[in-house]
Amino acid sequence: MNIPREFIELLLAKIDIVDLINTQIPLRKKSGSNYFARCPFHNEKSASFSVSQQKQFYYCFGCGAHGNAIDFMMQHERLSFPEAIETLARTAGMEVPKVAGGAKKDDSLPALYALMTEVTRYYHEQLRGAKHAIAYLKNRGISGQIAKQFLLGYAPASFHQILDHFGKTDADKKKLLDTGLIIKKDEGGYFDRFRDRIMFPIHDYRGRIIGFGGRILEKGEPKYLNSPETALFQKGHELYGLFEALRANRKLDKILVVEGYMDVVALFQHEITYAVATLGTATTAHHINRLTRYVTEIIFCFDGDEAGRNAAWRALQVLFPLMQDNLQIRFLFLPDGEDPDSLVRKEGKAAFEARINSASSLSAFFFLTLSRQSDLGTIEGRARFASSALTFIKQVPSAILPEILLEELAKRARVDVTELKQQIRNPAASLQIPVAIPEPEISKPKLKPAMQIALALLVQNPQLAKSVKTSLPQGNLLGLNFLHRLLDVISLQPEINTAALIESWRGQKEENFVKNLACWEHSIPEAGITHEFLGTLRQLNLLIIEDEINRLLSKASEGELADEEKQELSRWILKKKEMTVV
Ligand code: GTP
Ligand code: MN
Repeated sequence: MNIPREFIELLLAKIDIVDLINTQIPLRKKSGSNYFARCPFHNEKSASFSVSQQKQFYYCFGCGAHGNAIDFMMQHERLSFPEAIETLARTAGMEVPKVAGGAKKDDSLPALYALMTEVTRYYHEQLRGAKHAIAYLKNRGISGQIAKQFLLGYAPASFHQILDHFGKTDADKKKLLDTGLIIKKDEGGYFDRFRDRIMFPIHDYRGRIIGFGGRILEKGEPKYLNSPETALFQKGHELYGLFEALRANRKLDKILVVEGYMDVVALFQHEITYAVATLGTATTAHHINRLTRYVTEIIFCFDGDEAGRNAAWRALQVLFPLMQDNLQIRFLFLPDGEDPDSLVRKEGKAAFEARINSASSLSAFFFLTLSRQSDLGTIEGRARFASSALTFIKQVPSAILPEILLEELAKRARVDVTELKQQIRNPAASLQIPVAIPEPEISKPKLKPAMQIALALLVQNPQLAKSVKTSLPQGNLLGLNFLHRLLDVISLQPEINTAALIESWRGQKEENFVKNLACWEHSIPEAGITHEFLGTLRQLNLLIIEDEINRLLSKASEGELADEEKQELSRWILKKKEMTVV
């Protein structure tokens, strides 16, 4: 991450989370500086979603979703962290600076992209002279025009073609290595990764070439060889053909997700120009988040056998927590032994599109799969069916879809729909929070109540640090180190707000801990907070002292204390006296 900390804090100080959220979800002012709305992260009738202007933080009392403006952009708009920062900065009229020192790696990226473009062109040119490669493509029904559109290429059957051509200097070799185009030998030296293969360049959605898939021409292993994960290429994020689909269609309304490179290309050849392929991985949330930026309808293609149905069920589990009401998901199961490539060549565009149009809906597949697992002829079977369906439906964060699923479930399980709705609203019964926020970790191991109060008050009101006149001692009390860290962070920026404060812990193991502190309800009236905080600190002071005294005393009971320890003990005892006198 190359975005300077200070910039993020400045940004969080400039953005008003109330304005930000209010543009998406109308907020109503209720108490103090708090605003309320129906929660955008779970399905509800009442308004449990609160936004605090003072803390610059939101929290849902229903589902536990919480965070600052950056989290909101990440959770609600489904942006990555840098994208969230970028978007917020644009809103605030600020420009995201790059870290000068840490940007070293970034500097090399443009050169790597440029190399990938050159190598793609080179492979593409090699295709012209490679008769057997052309014959292979022709044999699979791929025209020259489509080969050109996808920049298909041929990697010559040589161990050093790319190496010789693009790796003249050590710096060049390093670039080839960094893009995964060559492999380092154990005994020294390098060799080309891709040899005698049909090359499928993989674009990112912006059209930059980030990797390759290479298919063997004859039989052999591996059939497909992919670029390794590099600075440019992460398999679970990318979709082959997305750039080509975006380029070929001014407005896309649906996307078909298939398995293979050849499926995408063959469908394109048959004028079905909206297919993309995952790169040998199962469907991930990254894929879905990417696709929902462009289309509201996604059709997933699976084999018709049991493996295909299992893959579809896994995709469904990824999908449910990401479902939005405007998103339509369907599953297309293909006849045994066919893939989109073989099928579209056999039956043509119209027949294949007819299959797409009659693909089963997500909900149909959902109920079908669950009903296969229980005997709906018996009461017990229907109860089991309803209860497992509920655990999934609970994860759907949108408003309308769960209602529809519940209506359908009620019909199929022959239970009262209001009963089901009650079950789903009962937070105690809720099994999963849709935005995947872990349960509060405060309880394990347990903080002393005074520590909990002090930490929470400080996180929620960082300006309290100014009122601390005497410093707390060091000690072993649980949470004390964290309290010291908080005070340190705030002392560097006394005007920091809660949102910016918790930002310092993003990605660290304390992240959830500090966020939970920000959400924790202390029920101390606004006017009494400073008083309460200082009182709690005094209490903690005493607790730390007693803790240390007890530690040394119990050590003494097991054997002689060292001289230093004896002095330490008497210092603590003296301190305790001073405190209790005052
Ligand atoms: P064709 O035989 O060319 O039609 O390929 P296919 O797409 O029909 O093949 P398959 O169903 O076997 O593979 C689907 C996808 O899985 C491919 O497009 C690759 O992304 C991936 N894949 C297949 N075989 C391999 C392999 O040997 N290694 C790796 N890493 N990925 C593979
Ligand atoms: Mn195939």
